[in-house]
Amino acid sequence: MATKKLKAAILGFGGMGHCHAAQYEKQKDVKLVALCDIDPSKFTMENVALNFGDSGKADVNALRCYTSYEELIAGEPDLDYIDICLPSDLHCEYSCRAMKDGFNVLCEKPMALNTKDCDKMIKTSYDTGKLLMIAQCLRFSDSFNMIRKFYENGKYGKLLRFSLHRMGGFPEGWFRDVTRSGGALMDLHIHDIDFVMYMLGKPDSLRARGAVVVSGGVDDLGANLIYKDGPIVDAESSWARGGWQCGMAAVFEKATVRTDGGDVIVYEADKPLKTLKPKNDNMYFNEIAYFAKCVKINTRPEVASIESTRETIRILLLETKSALSNGKLIKL
Ligand SMILES: NC(=O)c1ccc[n+]([C@@H]2O[C@H](COP(=O)([O-])OP(=O)(O)OC[C@H]3O[C@@H](n4cnc5c(N)ncnc54)[C@H](O)[C@@H]3O)[C@@H](O)[C@H]2O)c1
Repeated sequence: MATKKLKAAILGFGGMGHCHAAQYEKQKDVKLVALCDIDPSKFTMENVALNFGDSGKADVNALRCYTSYEELIAGEPDLDYIDICLPSDLHCEYSCRAMKDGFNVLCEKPMALNTKDCDKMIKTSYDTGKLLMIAQCLRFSDSFNMIRKFYENGKYGKLLRFSLHRMGGFPEGWFRDVTRSGGALMDLHIHDIDFVMYMLGKPDSLRARGAVVVSGGVDDLGANLIYKDGPIVDAESSWARGGWQCGMAAVFEKATVRTDGGDVIVYEADKPLKTLKPKNDNMYFNEIAYFAKCVKINTRPEVASIESTRETIRILLLETKSALSNGKLIKL
């Protein structure tokens, strides 16, 4: 017998709100019923007819639209969760408000721009008993997880070096203000550092070198997470490079495994390259499906626990400190 689907609403219907909306069409456990954005010009078919992979399209005409949080919760009191895609400086305020108003929350990254706000979010989640998950999407990427599995099962021997990069052009609007976005370090670099922490745990020390470019924060940087008995880890991120490029390479004793778009390439010396194709590499679809399942069975989302996503923010703030003091080594 089919069970009733959960009901969700998206709060903040800009670029990422549209991306999330497109992921709901094929979800088994949850249905998108409403949208909220202070700018009603965002509620158009032109804006939502974006197609992300084969995840489906959002049909704004089938959704109820609101222009303030207050109107949203008054009009949709029986939502199972609110999917927050607001500018980063609003994540803490609206996650806490939503949880106090009785809703579970899926919130985009970064969790918050400082650890004090992360702590407030964690406390509110426990005090209210509402579930909170930060959408650290790489944890739900099948291609990245394939590499993580090779690390865990030792298929290609010990991991010697892990190198990640994520670079593009300068985003517009509020992103260019470090107090609202945290700069490229909190916007792009967060993805790679969060995945490294998910896979390898906390480093023994770190250092970063970077440049303040447009936001007043670190917008172009290279960082090393140092593991005493682990692999060499470096991650480079920037908003100052123009065209989009991102990926990772894991150099194991017996093979190098790297991402190539949604594929995973395995290179073993003197053998032809092997291309592995993950079954479903739509990490945005996967993270929503996972959170909906957690809400359905009222279980805290372990894959992206709030404690672990707070730890990512702490590491990024230490990297900022290092980058702003010319690459000072910081011990953890
Ligand atoms: N996981 C990823 O890959 C990824 C990619 C891009 C962005 N993001 C994150 O998603 C978040 C949103 O980024 P974006 O690119 O969509 O930004 P955006 O500026 O395109 O969208 C934000 C939307 O929020 C609306 N808004 C602002 N204040 C509001 C309020 N009080 N109530 C209701 N609506 C309000 C704005 O009108 C805008 O439409 C950011 O935190 C960003 O870090 C994540």
